[in-house]
Amino acid sequence: MSNLSATAVACANIALIKYWGNKNDALRIPENGSISFNLDSLFTQTKVSFAQEFSSDQLLINGKPADPAALIRVETFLDIIRNLAGKRMFAKVESENNFPIGTGIASSASSFAALSLSASIAIGLDLSEKDLSRLARRGSGSACRSIPAGYVEWYPGKSDEDSYAESIAPANYWNLMDLVVVVSQEHKKVGSTEGHKLACSSPFQKIRIENSPERLSVIRNAIRRKDFQALADMVEKDSNMMHAVMMTSSPSLLYWQPTTIAIMHAVQEWRRSGIPVCYTLDAGPNVHVITTKDYYKLIHEKLSELAGISQVYSSKVGGKAHLIE
Ligand code: PMV
Repeated sequence: MSNLSATAVACANIALIKYWGNKNDALRIPENGSISFNLDSLFTQTKVSFAQEFSSDQLLINGKPADPAALIRVETFLDIIRNLAGKRMFAKVESENNFPIGTGIASSASSFAALSLSASIAIGLDLSEKDLSRLARRGSGSACRSIPAGYVEWYPGKSDEDSYAESIAPANYWNLMDLVVVVSQEHKKVGSTEGHKLACSSPFQKIRIENSPERLSVIRNAIRRKDFQALADMVEKDSNMMHAVMMTSSPSLLYWQPTTIAIMHAVQEWRRSGIPVCYTLDAGPNVHVITTKDYYKLIHEKLSELAGISQVYSSKVGGKAHLIE
């Protein structure tokens, strides 16, 4: 059997300015740009092996065969890579998350970033970081932001060619930390692929998109100047704007639980008392609490005193997707 295999690791990421809604759903060209940082403690390791002998693609997630929907999504993605390489071999994909799946922490960004790198190398493609980011975007939009290192901006672009992410500051530029507070372990009823399609049904989406260059500029400057207060105000506003769109879509997406709201209030109270801390939420009830390394222990303690929290995962800012032996 030929040995066309490679293993890659990629981190999850948390968006400070969110991606919600596509100009082109099939190509995952977003309506607005977004900015995130990588989460070094939450990552996916993926080994891909291509072989002439395989008669179909196989997908193992944490050692178990994946469900049919996940397999179809990966097969479709591997087709893009096979077309790029001009090769017709099937693959075995073995993916491991270091964070338990089913905890409500999204794994699609780290998974498709790790898959893009491992599969492209295994099949013999040598893609630039930009082209890897473009490729990862096809699997899950936010995955394009898990390719470059540290603080990352996704330029929305207008086409497949110009919609990609790049690093705007290295991981060690600013010592931010992210604490994912797990409120519910339930699987989302409506995932982000479906959610993006509903965004345009909210009357608030248009204004959210129109105003996005201004919000991106505030966050870019806040990162450059390491200005936590400016970052905090805009991160919460942007998350609230995305959830306002979600709540006012048809059908409505209401992800918040009572504990979600209790954490949001607590975080704002802590910030008023002088602690650099803010919240942001993705498409689910879990809350990402962002602070600096100096305050991380204190925030962790404070969070563990709140009722209804099942787990907290803490991360520093992470590096880029990379190959391992
Ligand atoms: O990449 P997707 O399709 O899982 O979308 C991610 C959407 C949010 O997590 C809600 C926002 C973001 O920018 O990460």
